Amino acid sequence: MKKHGATKWLSAVSLAVTLALNPAFAVQETAPAVVKTDTQARDAYVSDLLQKMTLEEKVGQLRLITVGTETPKEVIREMIKHGQVGAIFNTVTRPDIRAMQDQVMQLSRLKIPLFFAYDVVHGQRTVFPIPLGLAASWDRNVLARVGKVSAFEASEDGLNMTWAPMVDVSRDPRWGRVSEGFGEDTYLTAEMGRVLVKALQGDDPAARHALMTSVKHFAAYGAVEGGRDYNTVDMSPQRLFQDYLPPFKAALDAGSGGVMVALNSLNGTPATADRWLLKDVLRDQWGFKGITISDHGAIKELMKHGVAADPQDAVRIALESGVNMSMNDEYFMQYLPQLVKSGKLSEQEIDDACRHVLNVKYDMGLFRDAYSHLGPAGSDPQDTNAESRLHRADAREVARQSMVLLKNRLDLLPLKKQGTIALIGPLADSKRDIMGSWSAAGVAQQSVTVLEGMRSALEGKATLLYAKGANVSNDKGIIDFLNEYEKAVITDPRSPQAMIDEAVATARKADVVVAVVGEAQGMAHEASSRADITLPQSQRDLLQALKATGKPLVLVLMNGRPLALVQEDQQADAMLETWFSGTEGGNAIADVLFGDANPSGKLPMSFPRSVGQIPIYFNHLNTGRPYTWENPGKYTSHYFDAANGPLYPFGYGLSYTTFSVSDVKLSSGTLARDGKITASVDVTNTGKRDGATVVQMYIQDVTASISRPVKELKGFEKVMLKAGEHKTISFPIDAGQLTFWNAGMQQVVEPGEFNVFIGLDSQRVKNGKFTLQ
Ligand code: BGC
Repeated sequence: MKKHGATKWLSAVSLAVTLALNPAFAVQETAPAVVKTDTQARDAYVSDLLQKMTLEEKVGQLRLITVGTETPKEVIREMIKHGQVGAIFNTVTRPDIRAMQDQVMQLSRLKIPLFFAYDVVHGQRTVFPIPLGLAASWDRNVLARVGKVSAFEASEDGLNMTWAPMVDVSRDPRWGRVSEGFGEDTYLTAEMGRVLVKALQGDDPAARHALMTSVKHFAAYGAVEGGRDYNTVDMSPQRLFQDYLPPFKAALDAGSGGVMVALNSLNGTPATADRWLLKDVLRDQWGFKGITISDHGAIKELMKHGVAADPQDAVRIALESGVNMSMNDEYFMQYLPQLVKSGKLSEQEIDDACRHVLNVKYDMGLFRDAYSHLGPAGSDPQDTNAESRLHRADAREVARQSMVLLKNRLDLLPLKKQGTIALIGPLADSKRDIMGSWSAAGVAQQSVTVLEGMRSALEGKATLLYAKGANVSNDKGIIDFLNEYEKAVITDPRSPQAMIDEAVATARKADVVVAVVGEAQGMAHEASSRADITLPQSQRDLLQALKATGKPLVLVLMNGRPLALVQEDQQADAMLETWFSGTEGGNAIADVLFGDANPSGKLPMSFPRSVGQIPIYFNHLNTGRPYTWENPGKYTSHYFDAANGPLYPFGYGLSYTTFSVSDVKLSSGTLARDGKITASVDVTNTGKRDGATVVQMYIQDVTASISRPVKELKGFEKVMLKAGEHKTISFPIDAGQLTFWNAGMQQVVEPGEFNVFIGLDSQRVKNGKFTLQ
């Protein structure tokens, strides 16, 4: 039998927790979760229920079944009848959900309601920009709005839980799942995740329009080696606790009722079999009371990971390690009762896991009213996809906020609504792509493409010409990959040259060319890792030909990860990063292109120059031989065969107006351990248009017992300024923000000198200094 015991970290971490309670090492307190459940009443109810349950019924509660070809509704009906299922994934309409809940009430012995979960990652019916785009808003209010609308629509569809937010920090744009997260930074990710959890769940996950969250993927999935999905993760405990775990802790402190366990292994142990992670850290140290859910099929995968010999071994290890529910379960019912009966697994383990599931159902309010998200029979919407069920105004506003202006030579943007504009590119009129991956129950036909958005913006004012110009890719292998499960990419049968010729002829007739290029949505998804993050060659050929026309060239980028855009940066006069912007994407893009909205987004990930620079992230350690522009030096840490540093740094983004930032003012040059100081700057809108920007505060611990990053994001605020207006933006600083995990894995804050940097991106900053006593 394989031991899944605590590692040497455990003692270090327990020590650290002890130290954290010592006021000398005080860390910033986060607000406790606000869950309105009366836990005493809940415990009594659940204990009583557990006593009535057979072993098989308890095991049934641990099974999360995916509706699909392997488990169609008829098979699930039989499972329900025999108490063999606890929750359902992949059913998203009220009539379907109602039918299953009815079966529970009519056919099962104990009538324990099911809960229904789905990937509501950036919207349900109304699709918002992908999470990476939401993070680019750097706006907590935007995230709150997305959360509220998503929870409303999903709970109106009868759902109780979402597999979101994804708070996997990632520094590797090759990984397709960076599209689902909030980028490379721990603090930005933690803030976005925290706000989203609060907005989705509200104060009470049982409320009519609340949706319980299941934060994912615990843990460190964003650090898969080489950015290859599902790959191994190997990382120091310092990095794990300092950079990768805090967003999870923030989501749990905000009350997330669920945690989805990662598919990867961490330092050799698959997360699904990691007792240290799921029990010692999550339960014992963090006091998590909700449920842990395996990722889809992850328990079976323990055999492939090579830590379980057979299915029986896999289920025992997963359960003993702290997995409560098995998603897309195949084995629990087959093996768990038998394992208990043969004495290989204690029934207590089953009881504990089952208690967590029942607690969560109680918190969802399902024992009070199994139909709380369904309403009375006969109340289901006649048309699930009715226009009236969408929140288009919210989607349009949020999408505007997510866009990042990367370049704007000679103020080419905003475009005037006059003359002739040529709109070109494989993504300009794609309803599917603009929604991005994980677009939940969103219907592609309801999305607005760039062509449609520009058409309605220009109606009666200017001429809009359109040509596709290229397919997303000319590589048949890539197109086949993208179309494996759904016909997502429709390719034009004409030859690449014929398409380019048409595009060039169209461009020649216009005053300005807008080219919509980037990735198909399926290129930035789960299992969509890329070894090359440039634009596909078909699109590069198109841009080359468009550039040769000599017409002013605007690139509208649609993609789910940072791309390497050195060539495009040279070709384009203006570049707007729009990510996959959702149902109202086309309208929002037109709003920004024509200046009806002023872009204010900032990059949540560094954009590298080439794939060879990866990982590239702003908060790196300094090394003993740092490379700087001023002092390149041969024996410094850099590449000799390419320009160094990112093409566009973390936190970067332009506006149609300009801003200036004053020198940093500190309320005091010294900070007491239990004290507070503020760092402030005056920000002025020095241009002619109203606009918003994001003021960012970074801190550097200059000398410490271990090397500390060159800077770390510790505060940000989005500020709206009218032309000519200025505001003072202040950030509080206390010792809690300065903690780190030292060589002995103690969470400490060390006295000494700190630099404060404030600016409108991570590179162009004003400096201040203080000393921590
Ligand atoms: C993904 C999860 C997702 C689940 C259900 C898995 O393959 O890793 O993020 O929630 O599928 O869709």
